[in-house]
Amino acid sequence: MSKFWSPFVRELVPYVPGEQPKMTRLVKLNTNENPYGPSPRALDAMRRQVNDDLRLYPDPDCVQLKQAIADFYAIGPEQVFVGNGSDEVLAHAFHAFFQQGRPLLFPDISYSFYPVYCGLYGVEPKQIPLDENFAINLDDYCQDNGGIIFPNPNAPTGHLLALEAIEQLLQRNSESVVLVDEAYIDFGGQSAVALVDRYPNLLVTQTLSKSRSLAGLRVGLAIGHPRLIEGLERIKNSFNSYPLDRAAIAGAAASFADREYFSQICNRVIASRERLAAELATLGFVVLPSAANFLFVRHPQHDAAELAGKLREQGIIVRHFRQPRIDQFLRITIGTDQQSAELLTELAKILAGQD
Ligand SMILES: Cc1ncc(COP(=O)(O)O)c(C=O)c1O
Repeated sequence: MSKFWSPFVRELVPYVPGEQPKMTRLVKLNTNENPYGPSPRALDAMRRQVNDDLRLYPDPDCVQLKQAIADFYAIGPEQVFVGNGSDEVLAHAFHAFFQQGRPLLFPDISYSFYPVYCGLYGVEPKQIPLDENFAINLDDYCQDNGGIIFPNPNAPTGHLLALEAIEQLLQRNSESVVLVDEAYIDFGGQSAVALVDRYPNLLVTQTLSKSRSLAGLRVGLAIGHPRLIEGLERIKNSFNSYPLDRAAIAGAAASFADREYFSQICNRVIASRERLAAELATLGFVVLPSAANFLFVRHPQHDAAELAGKLREQGIIVRHFRQPRIDQFLRITIGTDQQSAELLTELAKILAGQD
């Protein structure tokens, strides 16, 4: 606290990101990063940007990247917005679309940045409880609102909402922007990008941090009707004209062009997820079905915070949320099969009381 802080800053409740520990020998399964490296073609493209041209500003319109994304989804570049991580893209969307003087609806269990952006942009949050299986009940979203946002698959549960349900939501809320945050869609869901041509109120956000192994590069995107994209561009160009640097534009574009590597690593993560889910169930864990690169699990006989603490002592970090309804769950990022094996060995010891 400082006397120089404005009253607004004093009231802010900032987001707390998952830990990025400095320990060296570590099995890091807490922030849903990809265990495999980025596409070699993306790395090459970035290396080629490290030259004297760095004295020049990057392309403020990121034309090369928007085109690569448009090619990937067979849409037009005018339907694409890019930013510094999907967190920034989400922030601009809150600013551009959700300050409507009516509440923004989102699930009670979802990405914890949404309430933070509500605080930052003066949007009234209205959290709608998920049902007992952590699923969205569509009827709950038939009420006055200034927008709807939810992750699909949901975070931290991994639960996937079918495209038909999203379409119903769009039809019932045609006067509000419905934002589908697809940070994890490539690990098992069908993207709502397929619907953007039919629903001018749909905005889909995605990130290169998970399925494209580029969390360190900070690139995110939104896809929607050109008028929604224009709204985002207006905010971006009133904030920072150059959110993506030269390496990020080139690397992200090359990553979208390398379809083969992308599907290869997604399939590896999905296969590891299914194996780990089965093995955790054998240890007595309740494992929720997941379409993401993480599992949400609980053990009926063991406290989740204690389990997380004991794993940590062994250098294995998973995510635990001290939050109503989910404080007995652990969110475990899918790592390499070697990391899964280490996790399972330690868990077996802990459950047997040998830790
Ligand atoms: C649901 C969801 N949305 C958005 C993000 C932000 O991703 P990034 O800012 O790395 O693109 C995350 C990150 O964990 C997430 O879980």
